[in-house]
Amino acid sequence: MRSDTVTKPSIEMRQVMFEAPVGDDVYGEDPTINQLEEVAAELLGKEAGIFVPSGTMANQMAILAHTERGDEVFIHRDSHVYYYEGGAAAMWSGTTWNLLQGTEGTPSGEILERAIRPTNIHHPRPRLLSLENTHNRAGGAAIDLARMMPSIDVARHHDLLTHLDGARLFNAAVALGISVRDLAAPFDSVSVCLSKGLGAPVGSVLVGSRPFIDRARTFRKWLGGGMRQAGILAAAGLYALTHNVEGLLLDHQRATKLAVALQDMGCQVSVPVTPTNMVMVDLPIEAETMIDALRRYEIFVGAMGTKRLRLVTHLDVDDAGIDHTIGAFSEIYETIHA
Ligand SMILES: Cc1ncc(COP(=O)(O)O)c(C=O)c1O
Repeated sequence: MRSDTVTKPSIEMRQVMFEAPVGDDVYGEDPTINQLEEVAAELLGKEAGIFVPSGTMANQMAILAHTERGDEVFIHRDSHVYYYEGGAAAMWSGTTWNLLQGTEGTPSGEILERAIRPTNIHHPRPRLLSLENTHNRAGGAAIDLARMMPSIDVARHHDLLTHLDGARLFNAAVALGISVRDLAAPFDSVSVCLSKGLGAPVGSVLVGSRPFIDRARTFRKWLGGGMRQAGILAAAGLYALTHNVEGLLLDHQRATKLAVALQDMGCQVSVPVTPTNMVMVDLPIEAETMIDALRRYEIFVGAMGTKRLRLVTHLDVDDAGIDHTIGAFSEIYETIHA
């Protein structure tokens, strides 16, 4: 339960990978990648898509394609692109970052409005607003459009472009009961990961307008992400989009069952307004001590702070796994309080 990135491809997924027609994608000749890019663009309501090795590369390509060096990017301080991508944007795009506050990783319209400075020679050019859905550091919070739109409206008013890190956008759509297309609609570009809850071994897709994707393709090459007969990976992505979206609901139900059981035994659990497949637990002991204790039960979880754990459900965690985890927490908490 460290992450939904640990899922292993199923036998059925491996079979479609085995059978996938392939070609050299750098020449645009891999039919399976071309199909995945079309399917993803259609699903997300954009003109074009590009298959990339990782969510990080998709986000970095989006920033590169939307900005020039020195431009200002507005982003929540807890966003993955800022917090967990190793400062990559500073290296690749040379942009200036304006870090915003806001509930569940989402800045309000007023917060963004206050952050945008008037255009003059002293200020960087305000260029891009980047949001995230679901929001990882906010505990996998699914953010509805009502909470996204105020800052997007302000961004548009100031002629900023908008990018959505939708690594887990399918989780958000399932939890909110609306389509990924609707959640993606207000954004100029969207990245989605196939290798998280959707269960593919590798890959993300970045979507947007045709000229934007053409530009992003150049940056993928620069970053070394031009792959060759990677249709075997795209086949897994296509399989995931067809077969593994509905199952996300089950992951969410299992996460809720776990959260409720942990709360009932006195654990401090932070529950977002619309939760998905993550459970954040604030501990009375060091997270590393708890991680070691859980490992003895063959339960693997990650820290999200010195005293905070993150547990993530996914298609390789079943009901028995959830019950086993609840039992382990109960025994460990008894020894803590003894
Ligand atoms: C919200 C979010 N965005 C982007 C990424 C990056 O994805 P990758 O690990 O494929 O680079 C992650 C990875 O966990 C994530 O949680």
